[in-house]
Amino acid sequence: VVITKATYLASAVRRDQYPEECRPAVAFIGRSNVGKSSLINSLTRIRQLARVSSKPGKTQTINFYELLLKIDGGEARHPVHLVDLPGYGYAKTSRESRKVWAKFIEEYFLHAEELRFVCLLLDIRHTPMESDRRMFDWLVEHDIPVLVIATKADKIGRNARRTQIAAMQKALGVSELTILPYASPKNEGRSELLDVMKEYLVE
Ligand code: GTP
Ligand code: MG
Repeated sequence: VVITKATYLASAVRRDQYPEECRPAVAFIGRSNVGKSSLINSLTRIRQLARVSSKPGKTQTINFYELLLKIDGGEARHPVHLVDLPGYGYAKTSRESRKVWAKFIEEYFLHAEELRFVCLLLDIRHTPMESDRRMFDWLVEHDIPVLVIATKADKIGRNARRTQIAAMQKALGVSELTILPYASPKNEGRSELLDVMKEYLVE
């Protein structure tokens, strides 16, 4: 799978601001600062496509990108959408703004007709928190396919990785769950993720 083009489309805080064109889509969600925007930049290989910040709470809107995928051997370009969602669990947000967040994200999930799967990002160094688990359960309950990605995999060694992945599976209550380790600075996990995208986004 090759990404031949990646462009920013739109930012939305309401449904009427979503892009008009509906494309098979993958959305990225996770706690604030987990590395969603970095992963999008690594995946597309465009450093500044999504804004990254060391301060949590950077992404506050739903950001849509369009990619053109070329499948090995084929000539066709398949347009797909990539959706960067604002992070949850940012400690400094008020209860009120958390409610607004939940409504806003739920509205996206429940109305995104072409949403094929969601990547739930978890920091490989931490055991999933209550909010991560709730997010995971919510997606499963709503029959939205989930790929769990363990981000910042470059920050720990090989053995610690294995231990952490097992702890994550346990915390999410699914012992056979596939969890893809990802290291954005090294693009590690990139080709595996592209394969999953091909499977879900290009029929
Ligand atoms: P919000 O938009 O606030 O929800 O955050 P986000 O999930 O988009 O995180 P972002 O990509 O902005 O990354 C947060 C911080 O983690 C930045 O300082 C990144 O450089 C760093 N980071 C992200 N991914 C990785 C990774 O795979 N490895 C390492 N070492 N650092 C990473
Ligand atoms: Mg972000």
